[in-house]
Amino acid sequence: MTDFLFAVFISGNGSNLQAMINAVKEKKVSGKICCVLSNNEEAYGLIRAKKAGIPTEVINNDDFDNREDFDNEMIKVLAKYEPDLIVLAGFMRILSPLFVKVYNGKLLNIHPSLLPKYPGLNTHERVLESSDKVHGITIHFVDDSIDGGPICAQSSLKINTSSVVELEDQIHKLEHELYPKVINWFGEGLLKLSGDKVYFDGKELIIKGKDEN
Ligand code: GRF
Repeated sequence: MTDFLFAVFISGNGSNLQAMINAVKEKKVSGKICCVLSNNEEAYGLIRAKKAGIPTEVINNDDFDNREDFDNEMIKVLAKYEPDLIVLAGFMRILSPLFVKVYNGKLLNIHPSLLPKYPGLNTHERVLESSDKVHGITIHFVDDSIDGGPICAQSSLKINTSSVVELEDQIHKLEHELYPKVINWFGEGLLKLSGDKVYFDGKELIIKGKDEN
């Protein structure tokens, strides 16, 4: 798939989005960001997208009575961009099974921990409190579970700080390296989801989740 289209969902700063914008510009990703969607009109990532000339969409979840209505609106809006892939990058909403079904196999998320350790929020704080020696990131296909979908890739680091801010910064650097790579693998047809299994270049990828602590 050359020149494949991907949409990026954000709720905040969008440093991962920026890494993707840069990677596309540097032709490290052979695709194009067709739209950036946010549930938060104040997300700084929207400014990053506008600066890069990428169409933006804001859909405020507070305007909807329930998750399905919000998700249906997103599906409707996305239809005009026909994305081959949707990339969640700090999107702070849980997607309904309805949305996950429509984009099954075309939905990636990045999580700041070595899943299955530390699903949910505040991962850096929890890692430091547990005195873990190793921390990292996970990119996975999204299914109906929270941070539990089939894993595509992980990257880790040795913890050398007790500062949450410093650790977060180090983790971001890993994210900015790995996410564009994984997106490119998908765009080149190397990475696929079939059922609940991930295939890389036709071979089943078995990543049970690292626990190096
Ligand atoms: C990242 O750490 C990502 O793993 C998590 O949310 C954060 C988003 O950061 N899901 P940014 O908005 O890309 O800077």
